[in-house]
Amino acid sequence: MLQKMNPKNKDILVFVNDKLVKREDAKVSVFDSVVQGGDAVWEGLRVYNGKVFCLDEHLERLQNSAHALCFSDIPSNETIKKALFQTLKANDMYDGVHVRLTLTRGEKITSGMDPRLNQMGCTLIILAEWKPPVYNKSITLITSSVRRNNPMFLDSKIHHNNLLNNILAKIEANHAGADAGLMLDINGFVAEANGVNIFCIRKDTVYTSLPDACLPGITRSLVINICKENNIKIVEKNLSLLEFYTADEVFCTGTMGELTKVHEIDGRKIINKNGYKILEKIQGIYSKITKNSGVDIQ
Ligand SMILES: Cc1ncc(COP(=O)(O)O)c(C=O)c1O
Repeated sequence: MLQKMNPKNKDILVFVNDKLVKREDAKVSVFDSVVQGGDAVWEGLRVYNGKVFCLDEHLERLQNSAHALCFSDIPSNETIKKALFQTLKANDMYDGVHVRLTLTRGEKITSGMDPRLNQMGCTLIILAEWKPPVYNKSITLITSSVRRNNPMFLDSKIHHNNLLNNILAKIEANHAGADAGLMLDINGFVAEANGVNIFCIRKDTVYTSLPDACLPGITRSLVINICKENNIKIVEKNLSLLEFYTADEVFCTGTMGELTKVHEIDGRKIINKNGYKILEKIQGIYSKITKNSGVDIQ
């Protein structure tokens, strides 16, 4: 599935550093850390019904990621919220919007890897676009040869901009004609797909991979809570490919695409042998939550 340019996004205003600029002027310096080393952290957020969904959870993860990478002069949540609301209001965006919020280590005084060269504070970028959920109703996956990072190399709990291993998995999926690449962990257990978390359902129980080699997604946590609050059995454990191939239902979760059914993995159709319709139930509850909760755009 290839996203298309939405003409509504042609004239958007983007927040870069400390001001709103036109799309064509929305740029960072060649000395910025994100250009030099992918040295940045980010969050994808959605706006529903005049509210930013799970804003505090996203800001907490952003702050934790920036702290783990030892950024200095990290803007406060208040500063980020102010810039976010300013951007949404300036674009008259109150629904059907996706925001990519990026915080880089900032500009360097000269090119180089050393973070001591960063002496100008972080760069804040708020890119809000008109964007409905990006996936089709149901998608296909292939297993990628690229492993998802294990904490031994780079902790997948840090939501950083070094996305190359996920991008390589997506390229493999593109070449295979699939929608996304399923990534295994260092031991061969399923970690997540290249930009989304993954769940499978067998009989009356929902399973998801342990958050050891995947981003602990905010949508993933919401789904786990929905299960707990609605008497749906939920288990987090190491899961092998066979458990996904032979599941009754498989689905992916993420802010960008919400909850998306998977109907085929590596050429194996996902066949619902037991007749439960648990995914539909969880999707219905999720959709209600998105409509009724969030932080008002002030
Ligand atoms: C690698 C990866 N996995 C999963 C997710 C889904 O996370 P969330 O539900 O917080 O959007 C993302 C979202 O950015 C991601 O980049």
